[in-house]
Amino acid sequence: MSPDSPSSYARRDVLRLGAGAAAALVAARAVGGSPAAAVTAPSAPATAVPSGPILKPLPTEWFTPFGTNAEMRWDSVDPRRYLTAPERLFVRNHTSTPVIDAATWELRIHGDGLADPRTAERAHVLTYRDLLRLPARTATTVLECTGNGRSFFATQQGTPASGTAWQLGAVGTVRWTGVPLSLVLRRLGLRRDAVDVQATGLDAPYVSGGVDYGAVRRPFPVAKAVDDALLVYAMNGRPLLPDHGFPVRLLLPGWIGIASIKWLGELEVSRSTLTSPWNTKWYRMTGPAYPADAPPLTVTPVKSAFELARGAEIPAGRRTVLTGRSWSGAAPVRRVEVSTDGGETWGAARLGRRRGEGWTQWSYPWRPRGSGEHVLLARATDAAGRTQPDEVPFNDGGYFFSAVVRHPVAVA
Ligand code: MTE
Repeated sequence: MSPDSPSSYARRDVLRLGAGAAAALVAARAVGGSPAAAVTAPSAPATAVPSGPILKPLPTEWFTPFGTNAEMRWDSVDPRRYLTAPERLFVRNHTSTPVIDAATWELRIHGDGLADPRTAERAHVLTYRDLLRLPARTATTVLECTGNGRSFFATQQGTPASGTAWQLGAVGTVRWTGVPLSLVLRRLGLRRDAVDVQATGLDAPYVSGGVDYGAVRRPFPVAKAVDDALLVYAMNGRPLLPDHGFPVRLLLPGWIGIASIKWLGELEVSRSTLTSPWNTKWYRMTGPAYPADAPPLTVTPVKSAFELARGAEIPAGRRTVLTGRSWSGAAPVRRVEVSTDGGETWGAARLGRRRGEGWTQWSYPWRPRGSGEHVLLARATDAAGRTQPDEVPFNDGGYFFSAVVRHPVAVA
């Protein structure tokens, strides 16, 4: 490589970006708990040969598989554990999990919104090692697919929506460790008139109905980038699993899952509005109830789930403690009401743990009388005043099914 090749320019920028590395690393450990495993072990599964769209094991007790995706089973959730273990987190892949070597991974940052604007070809480059040396922070957040609950449009409202027929398991709460995107952008120099950032994944191009839509990518406002976006490399204190974005993914707390691009390869920072099919064609509300220019979806709604199988057997006449979790991308959950008689009567659930921006655990003791089918309901309200409705207007994508879900159980 000649000394004046674009990459060597980029490498000099990397060094500048990483200035003060030793102090930064200390700060990362102090602030971010102990991502030391991630720091010292860029453990790309170099020998793994992708055997299917998802690499981690998907035991049937934990997951319901849907092709390139897999849903967490709520009846496998242990009420004593607050965080979702990475091994148990749902997977949503447009294509399949790529195997990426952290040693050669690069994040390419370019665009005219940077103080030193770059084309994609002459991008600033950040390596995995560079990233691990920057000050890190941790954030406990809910990660949820926009279509979580989609199947209930069909089964509860009689209006099926196309797409993965998730029940309520396309959600989890994870403690992430990563570098604030604001820090990286400020060190690179961000123009005051920058408006959008587009994040692009390194997975295979998404092809649907014979159309190649290119790499999975989605833009978001610079305001979100400098507010709380993270370039994450660890989940619950360990390096990301390949299926969840190893070596580095973007995290936009409180926003729909698609905003958190996995296997992050590129960030374009622009002075003009950016688009991709993931904010113009998908992940917007379309359908009779919505205007043609409905904006791209961002913050997730309020939802609740019981830690129980649908149709679970509950012993009659004995005290059972129903447990579950509620969450909202906008604000903490303030109240959860439970009904055990299909919505005739409601009682307040006892709220349990909530960490950071994660979900809220709750419990509700119940002594069922008589046998037969009962319908359980859980309805949450968040601090922003949003309550789960009885019904939600249909949208073509089957997004944001935030209505109270009817959960049948058999009392015997
Ligand atoms: N990023 C890339 N590069 N490719 C993808 O297919 N899926 C998105 C998002 N990021 C996706 C992606 C969607 S739709 C969701 S819901 C989340 O990742 C799922 O994250 P998880 O698989 O780690 O649970």
